[in-house]
Amino acid sequence: MKKLKLTTEYKLFDDSSELDPQTRELMNIAIETRKKAYAPYSKFSVGTAILLDNNEIIIGNNQENAAYPSGMCAERVAIYFAGAKYPDNSILKMAISASSSLKGIDNPVAPCGACRQAISEYEVKQNKAIEIYFMGETGKIIMVNSIKELLPLGFDKSFLK
Ligand code: THU
Repeated sequence: MKKLKLTTEYKLFDDSSELDPQTRELMNIAIETRKKAYAPYSKFSVGTAILLDNNEIIIGNNQENAAYPSGMCAERVAIYFAGAKYPDNSILKMAISASSSLKGIDNPVAPCGACRQAISEYEVKQNKAIEIYFMGETGKIIMVNSIKELLPLGFDKSFLK
């Protein structure tokens, strides 16, 4: 038996003024998109903006449903639309912002497990890592170079055949 340790590497930015201009703009689009989320049940709004290698920006926000499990997270709304509209383009970056009308969120909100799995699928598909930047409504921003930092020991197609 061996005991091993996995580590996660990430960058922490104090606020969006520390981001490069392109990423700051992407985060601003995520923030604006978050404000249009349909989240009447949780009151928790999430916005995502995705930058593709053709310079297109794809957005998504969470879409809730009275039948709660039928709703969808912002990250997957965006990444599935990117896959639907530009199946042959690579995703370079994702920016994510989350807020709640019930309380202030000033710390970074990471994508949920299901969204990590979905992002991982697209990294494998395009064979290229996706930079992910995430924040709350205000405050610090975390950046990871790849979804692998958030989903170590992940499941992918290599196990299927
Ligand atoms: N949500 C997202 O959009 N992304 C996440 O990664 C976590 C959760 C949404 C789903 C639901 O509409 C609300 O936030 C509360 O869970």
